[in-house]
Amino acid sequence: MAHPPHSGTTAWRCPSNLAIVKYWGKHSRQLPRNASISLTLSQAHTDTTCSYSIEPDLAGPQLDFRFEGKPMPAFSDKILRYLHSIADELPFIPHLRLEVQSQNSFPHSSGIASSASSMAAMALCLCDIAVASGYMDEADFLRRASHFARLGSGSASRSVYPHLAAWGQHSAIADSSDLYAVPYSEAAPVFHTMHDDICIVSTAEKSVSSTAGHQLMENNPYASARYQQANDRLSELLHALRTGDVPHFGQIAEDEALTLHGMMMCSRPSYMLMEANTIEMIRRIQLYRQESGVAVYFSLDAGPNIHLLYPDEVADAVSIFVQEQIRPLCVQGRIIQDQVGNGPSRLVTV
Ligand code: PMV
Repeated sequence: MAHPPHSGTTAWRCPSNLAIVKYWGKHSRQLPRNASISLTLSQAHTDTTCSYSIEPDLAGPQLDFRFEGKPMPAFSDKILRYLHSIADELPFIPHLRLEVQSQNSFPHSSGIASSASSMAAMALCLCDIAVASGYMDEADFLRRASHFARLGSGSASRSVYPHLAAWGQHSAIADSSDLYAVPYSEAAPVFHTMHDDICIVSTAEKSVSSTAGHQLMENNPYASARYQQANDRLSELLHALRTGDVPHFGQIAEDEALTLHGMMMCSRPSYMLMEANTIEMIRRIQLYRQESGVAVYFSLDAGPNIHLLYPDEVADAVSIFVQEQIRPLCVQGRIIQDQVGNGPSRLVTV
């Protein structure tokens, strides 16, 4: 090995993100079938601390992974497979002894997918290790972190940037790439403080994982029309973002959420991740908007939980609506009040 032994500790806090135009369908080595764009959140985040040493004689990597203070074999195996999978690009990995402590700001069984925040936090730590040990220079640090996050979980590629991020090659986004996400900085200020209340409809594990869902797109008869539609909607969304057109943004967010779940329903085998209360909440949101004129919209991830999207200026009105009509439909009244945020922060480097 060309580099001397090295050891240290690094830690990152990385938020989750919510895609407005969704990534659903992938190929090759974690490459998307269409471009996507997301809001970077702030309250739903993962803190990951990595203590490491690079030992020339080690035939590794050696991993000690703890989630919320306890060993978690399923997560640990996933991280170990991930480390092996990126060893071709980070040649210190076979010599890496790594102790990882990870925790989420939201309960593990809250029904919120943590792969975006956790894989992005992990990738940021690995890039710190690569820089500190001389395997990487600091140029384009976030872009490289996004690349490694993508290899762990596609949506994680977008979590490394503040406010909004786009992943996937698209003619209307300069520098966009299938290999990593890029920050999208042309959105009007109203989108930099957008709220996302995550309304927990179910905490049960999903019946079909995202990995399996992406795979099922390969034989979905509507797949190519869907990929074209996503790219077209992204062009439309960029216009709404730049001009501060919240109703148009909201319309696209809702269309995309329902299309994502529509794709699941017409996969073979078909499946449904929405629950009865998901649909009841959608009805209440649309009716409330129609009757009050308040700009509140919904989105969904690959699960039953409703993401309630609204600009800061209507937060007081929405809060009353949520208390009266949405919270009673949530598991134990659980809602994570989130908002667009400033992206990841480094917690420590020694
Ligand atoms: O990153 P993955 O493989 O968990 O896929 C996530 C896909 C969606 O969350 C449904 C959409 C998206 O673009 O984040």
